[in-house]
Amino acid sequence: MKKILITGAAGQLGLALYRLLKDNLKYMIYRTESAPSSDGQFGALDITDEAAVAEAISAMRPDIIINCVAMTAVDLCESEADKAYRVNALGPKYLAVAAQETGAVLIHISTDYVYDGTAVRPYTEDDIPNPISVYGKTKLQGDANALQYCSRSFVLRTSGVYGEGKNFVRTMLRLAKEGSNIRVVTDQIISPTSALELARVIIFLMETNSHGIYNATCEGSTSWHEFAEEIFKIAGIDVKVAKVSSSEYITPAKRPPYSVLDNRNLRERHGYYMKDWKDALREYMNEIMHQ
Ligand SMILES: NC(=O)c1ccc[n+]([C@@H]2O[C@H](COP(=O)([O-])OP(=O)(O)OC[C@H]3O[C@@H](n4cnc5c(N)ncnc54)[C@H](OP(=O)(O)O)[C@@H]3O)[C@@H](O)[C@H]2O)c1
Repeated sequence: MKKILITGAAGQLGLALYRLLKDNLKYMIYRTESAPSSDGQFGALDITDEAAVAEAISAMRPDIIINCVAMTAVDLCESEADKAYRVNALGPKYLAVAAQETGAVLIHISTDYVYDGTAVRPYTEDDIPNPISVYGKTKLQGDANALQYCSRSFVLRTSGVYGEGKNFVRTMLRLAKEGSNIRVVTDQIISPTSALELARVIIFLMETNSHGIYNATCEGSTSWHEFAEEIFKIAGIDVKVAKVSSSEYITPAKRPPYSVLDNRNLRERHGYYMKDWKDALREYMNEIMHQ
């Protein structure tokens, strides 16, 4: 039986992974969070604590470490850059060093925000990143650390993730329920990706030896505005979504105007295709609307 450690296990991706792995008898799953949960579901492992990471990994000796930890609040990263660096860049380094020492595979998750968004076609894994926010910069340092310190590491870059927890889909549904005015930007293009689709590709890749960088987003692309409209269409909610531009919707962190990723390595190395973003969204919404 292989041992899998999921760090940041209470986050959107961590929960989706557990859902897919928990009944698989091939795996024993360990789940950790920055603080232990009172119900005992999650052990404590703050990945910014170098000694704690080394100690936990050498005691547990997982075959595979899936790092789902991140400081994902993109705007907060601007004002808490030091914390963002520790969580997004140093934590992955400590995990990579420990993985290398113990012979584990490391799967680290990254973001489309490592790019500046000036491209006119989807970014492939060979395009040179140029992040424009603290979040993007610290995530890129985390990617480099994962690859540099562990020879068996995968870095998966994804975009617009929604699963269990706070996310764009749930925020839109809440705003509509509250009767708020909804304004969404039209000039940032992404590929929304369900946590479940991302978890599926991680589980596929972790059993291969084909390490390296992978873009891993749902197929197709859209603006956040169209994404919002599709959410309301599926939910059958008749609500007006006002169009705004990024220059009218000022946020502390700059976002790339175009951060569509081409899953070239998944396709060419493995013949693996992720679901179209609208199909994945429908799958997700069917579930949450029947909960
Ligand atoms: N969400 C998106 O739209 C998006 C887009 C592109 C890429 N990604 C990437 O996808 C991955 C998964 O994202 P997600 O949406 O699942 O994130 P998430 O829901 O925000 O979960 C992140 C988890 O990390 C935990 N964490 C934070 N600091 C920690 C620390 N020092 N030690 C241990 N755990 C810590 C958080 O716990 P606390 O709540 O206790 O801090 C949280 O449970 C991340 O690498 C992210 O950068 C996400």
